[in-house]
Amino acid sequence: MSTVIRIAPPVVELAGVTKEYPGGVAALRGVDLTVERGELLAIVGPSGSGKSTLLHIVGTLDLPTAGSVRIAGYDAAALGDRKLSALRAQHIGFVFQAFHLVPGMSAQDNVAEGLLYSGLPRAERRRRAGDALERVGLGERLKHRPHELSGGQKQRVAIARAVVGEPDLLLADEPTGALDSASGEAVMELLHELNKEGATIAVITHDTEISEMLPRQVRIRDGLVVEDVGNPVAASLSMGDAR
Ligand SMILES: Nc1ncnc2c1ncn2[C@@H]1O[C@H](COP(=O)(O)OP(=O)(O)OP(=O)(O)O)[C@@H](O)[C@H]1O
Ligand SMILES: [Mg+2]
Repeated sequence: MSTVIRIAPPVVELAGVTKEYPGGVAALRGVDLTVERGELLAIVGPSGSGKSTLLHIVGTLDLPTAGSVRIAGYDAAALGDRKLSALRAQHIGFVFQAFHLVPGMSAQDNVAEGLLYSGLPRAERRRRAGDALERVGLGERLKHRPHELSGGQKQRVAIARAVVGEPDLLLADEPTGALDSASGEAVMELLHELNKEGATIAVITHDTEISEMLPRQVRIRDGLVVEDVGNPVAASLSMGDAR
């Protein structure tokens, strides 16, 4: 019999998370979600089901109304604003549907922005930014500014910026939403590669074709997790039951 020894806390641990917006909308109604280091999962559900709300809470951009949120072992509710920003800077990378690149700034400098709060000197930030762009296949586009890049390339720059600081967790909200299917596939391939290199990645999507490409799918509907397919912890527990 094997014993599981946990050497690091889960990257994400939500317990009983609810979120009520002013006006009485209950966007999340008691979500439990654990993500272990090294996972690649989809959070999938129809429009209005609470996906972006969940991303904001997991990303510590917003606090829940009730329930607990732990990121890399840190209790988000116990940290003040400054410590929460430091937690985000050190542990979480964000990729948004609309890229959010700084116009007029080269790809390399956009990616180096991801290290702004790292305490590294500028030359080192730029060197690492160059490496990250190399990793996403844009080594030949360091000096290009956003308007000189295609949509798929812009999204790859955004991904490079999100991973340049080697975060514990990469959160991507509809990362292929603005892309044609070929560029969308290339972005999904890139996320798979980064995951093989060790990144923990959660992809938010309403698109079941995208979610089915990923090893785990957490389905949410009306603010509740209704299905969790491919959850590695649940799988190892049920194997335990069988013995
Ligand atoms: N700031 C807010 N104030 C009030 N209600 C909100 C707010 N943000 C979201 N909601 C409501 O909460 C629910 C969940 O919204 P959320 O943005 O999380 O959905 P979603 O799953 O991301 O949808 P989509 O796929 O359309 O982006 C919706 O009913 C929405 O109207
Ligand atoms: Mg959304």
